[in-house]
Amino acid sequence: MVANESIDGLDQQTLLSMLRWQVEAGATDVVQGVPWNRFESSDPPITEKLRAQSPAQTRSNESTPPVRLVDSGQLKTSFEDLKSVSTLEDLRQRLEGFDGGTLKRFATNTVFGDGALSAKLMLIGEAPGAEEDRQGIPFVGPSGKLLDRMLASIGLNRSEVYMTNTLYWRPPGNRTPTPEERNATLPFLLRQIELIGPKVLVLLGGPAAQSLLNETTGITRLRGRWIDFQTRNEPNGLSIPALPTFHPAFLLRQPAQKKQAWQDLRAIRARLDG
Ligand code: URA
Repeated sequence: MVANESIDGLDQQTLLSMLRWQVEAGATDVVQGVPWNRFESSDPPITEKLRAQSPAQTRSNESTPPVRLVDSGQLKTSFEDLKSVSTLEDLRQRLEGFDGGTLKRFATNTVFGDGALSAKLMLIGEAPGAEEDRQGIPFVGPSGKLLDRMLASIGLNRSEVYMTNTLYWRPPGNRTPTPEERNATLPFLLRQIELIGPKVLVLLGGPAAQSLLNETTGITRLRGRWIDFQTRNEPNGLSIPALPTFHPAFLLRQPAQKKQAWQDLRAIRARLDG
């Protein structure tokens, strides 16, 4: 902004003090150009331009009934509900109609998944970060860039794999999602795995490994060990080899661990080729 410029009749001093107030209140990112009072409306003021950038990520879907998952006691029933969902697009729409509580209300986009529907490799991360929240696509921020390079090192690009997360909305401030938050959307993730039916599953980081394997052990001990992941869709449940490994965000902070990640990548390549 140039000196003395005013916006909406507010002078520079007033605008600066409003911005300072937001920073002091803990705002870390600008996520949209259009203001949105999330306490008053659950419908974001997504402009046509934003819709065009992320066509499949629109929120409201009047024709599909909302699925409500609020506590773990309802999970089984809700998983049963999703059994009849036979395409990823239908599952995405069910998720759009799902009451995701505060997390969903505070997110800019639902980040459902990205990649090939016939992918042999499916990667599951923790939760969307700031860039993923803006674009509505998983792994497009800094850790996604590293993940792309990791995949390239074993001859894969992101258009031939499928990526998603344990949670479909960015937790405010990028905090680690709680087990309760991850459990609330677990039936969606399980159905997503069944619909993709990959040959190999890769669980990126502790939260993904712990959610899917129902574990409390840390990723340092879980990584590098193959586990047979059973999908729940009885009687035709799939058994998919799953490998927990380090999350790329962790590797960005701890590059010395890339050596072990490289061993895991080679093991993934060998399973895909086997
Ligand atoms: N980290 C994740 O776990 N998932 C993303 O989509 C981005 C960053």
